[in-house]
Parts: sequence; structure tokens; C-alpha cells
Amino acid sequence: MSKLVVKGGATLSGSVRVQGAKNSALPILAASIISGGESVIHNCPDISDVDDALEILRYLGCRARRDGTKVTVDSSELARTDIPEELMCRMRGSVLFLGALVARAGEAKISAPGGCRLGPRPVDLHLRALRAIGIDASENEGSVRCRCAEYRGGLVYLPIPSVGATENAMAAASRARGTTVIVNAAREPEICDLACYLSKLGVRVFGAGSSTVTIEGRKTLNKAAEHRLIPDRIAAATYLCCAAAAGGKAELRNVCVLDICPVIRALREMGCEISRRRDSLTIVSKGKLRAHGGIVTGPYPAFPTDAQPPLMAASVLAEGSSVFTETVFEKRYRHVPELIKLGADIEVEGKRALVRGVNSLRGCELKAEDLRGGAALATAALRAEGETVISGFEYVKRGYEGFGRTLSELGAQVVEID
Ligand code: UD1
Repeated sequence: MSKLVVKGGATLSGSVRVQGAKNSALPILAASIISGGESVIHNCPDISDVDDALEILRYLGCRARRDGTKVTVDSSELARTDIPEELMCRMRGSVLFLGALVARAGEAKISAPGGCRLGPRPVDLHLRALRAIGIDASENEGSVRCRCAEYRGGLVYLPIPSVGATENAMAAASRARGTTVIVNAAREPEICDLACYLSKLGVRVFGAGSSTVTIEGRKTLNKAAEHRLIPDRIAAATYLCCAAAAGGKAELRNVCVLDICPVIRALREMGCEISRRRDSLTIVSKGKLRAHGGIVTGPYPAFPTDAQPPLMAASVLAEGSSVFTETVFEKRYRHVPELIKLGADIEVEGKRALVRGVNSLRGCELKAEDLRGGAALATAALRAEGETVISGFEYVKRGYEGFGRTLSELGAQVVEID
């Protein structure tokens, strides 16, 4: 079991580079099997979710290797179209292989995906989307099977703009005989990144980033593609929250500022100064923050649900009361009982959490229950008196490249223990 030990009280200073986006890496690595050629992916974060995606690719018969942040996938050989439970259960992103396998081989069999336990995370919308484009998709006791001889594409309506269902539909549609239109598609920047990669394969994708995405499928695709992943907006948001909580001045390089506008706005309301220079952001925080005007999470471009836990951690010492409303996942407050152990005053009622600012926090033993919640505990611990030991830190390693090292580079007193 991994742990992070944080000695609170140090202010942050320095400059760090933000990793490439986890949530782009996973759908694009899955989509790399579609063409049957070689894909070179740059800026690929060194995180365990990516390691797990590479392991799935190898299991399927592809050659996949990493050289620093460059990952090369050769999918000319595809030996199988099933993914066993042992590989599926490691992360939610494993479900993204469904659309890609169908596009490549006309069939797929997977078991239920794993991932953070944020409440029910069904795959009904993924299956509904695949059926709408002509794929025979069925679910039986958690196991999903897709089959099709040929499919023509079609009209996909998503009742909610699910990120994963949009990505699976886009991947499958890329080799349909006809055109697919996804209505109420997710608009996250990672959808645009996937569209950009698919267009390098020769697929024609229009409207990515809007709520209507059109994909003109092609039977024959380009065999070679090279793509650079966008910066990770949630990692950037997390490090901004760390600097806000700890106080000091930090520069984050490799940031797409437009992608994190709601987070920047909230931190400015809390009293941080944030300035932008090309693809860098500098945050100055006096450490003494005030409550923000209220956060409501939602699909992009609303406040990202993944940045809610770190922002909450930065709010626990702010003057006044901060209200959070979580609308995406039912159980996205799993970090709250742990923040309370540190001395935070938080009341949760359904989707709403009320954070009353306290004057101090005291370090203690905590347990990370999920990826972003774990990062949130570290964020708060930066300001706690004494030492905080966070176990279950392997959750954080799923999504953050060198989290402890990055905080150390900024002057925090943290040690990662495996
Ligand atoms: C993706 C991100 C995750 C982020 C989330 C919301 C990846 C690898 N993960 O997850 O970090 O927190 O978007 O921004 O990109 N839903 C259904 N049925 C479905 C699919 C989803 O009811 O078939 C519901 C979910 O339970 C949830 C909501 O839709 O309440 C949004 O989920 P979705 O956008 O699909 O999130 P993921 O793609 O799983």
C-alpha cells in the first residue's frame, strides 16, 4: 500500500510542468487499435491508469511501449477481442475499448469496468449509443458483448452528455459505412482531443466540442498517426488548489487556461491572484482565503466534478462558508469524513455540502478513498499543523504523474512511501 506523508506549513514556490491529460490518453490509447497501424502518442502521462491501458493493448496482441512521455502502439496484430475481468476492473477507462474493438474487429466482449466508487456508474448509455449505429450490444450479469457484421452509423441521442458514451460512439462510428450524428454529446476538451486523433487516422469528424458531433466513417484508415495529448486540466486545477491552500507563488507550465476557467474564477473569488502568460499560469496566494460564491459541478463547460474535491480542500480554511453542489456523481463526497478528521467543518446533505471555514487543521492518519479525493486530502494536509499520513495513495497514482515529486519541487514537505 502506498502512502503520502505531508508535513504541513510550508508555503509553495517554484515552477512545475503539468502532465498530459489522463482523460485524453485513455480513449486515444483505446482508439489506437482501430487503424491496425502504428500510433505515436506524445505527452502521455506516466500514471498507473495508462500502464493498465498498455497492459490491455498487449493482452489484445498489440505491441505497446513507453519511452518517457512518448508511447508507441503498433496494432497491426490483434489476437483477440475479449478483455478479462482482471484487466477491466482496474479502471473505468477500460470500457473505452468497447467501441474501438467493434470498429476494428466487429466484435467485443468485456466484463464490468472498475474505477473510483463514485456511486452507480452504469454503461447503459454506451450500449444505447452503439445500438443506435447498428451494433448488436447486450449486457448479461455485468458482462458486455457486441457483435456486428456491418453497421451503417445513425443518430445517437444521449439523454445526458456522458463523456465515455460519446467517446465509445465516436470510436465505433469511425468505421461505420455511413454517417453518425451524436446529439447531446459531451463537450469536454478531451472529446476534441479524441476527434483530433481520429481525424489523423483519416476519419472525418465535425462539431467536436459542441453538443452535436458528426462522424463520417471510413473503412480504410491511415496506418500511421502521431498525436500530442492536451494538458491535464484536472491536474492543473489540483496544483492551483494546492498553492491556494498552502500559500506562496507557483507557476504551472503546459496549461490550457481556457479549459479551467471555472476553477480560476473560484480561486480568484477566494482571494488568489492568477495571471497567464502563453501556456503558463502563475498563482499567488497569501494562504488566508475567503469563501467562494458557490460551486455547482456539471458537464463541461460547468465546474468539473473532478476538481470539486481539491477545491473543497482549499476551502476548509477559508473565511466564511462555501457551498458545493455536486450534480454529476452521487458519492463524490467520500473525502469529506477524512477532511473532518483533520479538523474541517463540513456538513453534507444530499448533493449539497456546506463548508464552514475553520482557523486551523491538525495532521493525523487519513485514508484516500478515490483518485481526486486522495489528492484533496494532500491539498488540505499542506496547511495542517504537524504530520499527516495518507494511506491508499495508489488511488492518486492512477491519475497524477509524480504527485509527491511535483509538490516537493514546489517546496512542500512531502514524502511518498511504497
Ligand atoms: C469521465 C471521466 C471522469 C469524470 C467524468 C465526468 C474519463 C476516463 N473519466 O468519466 O474523470 O469524472 O467523465 O466529467 O474520461 N452515466 C450513466 N450511464 C452511462 C454512462 C454514464 O448513467 O452509461 C452517468 C454516470 O453515472 C454519471 C454521469 O452519467 O452520473 C456522467 O458520467 P460520464 O460522463 O459517463 O463519466 P465517465 O465517462 O465515466
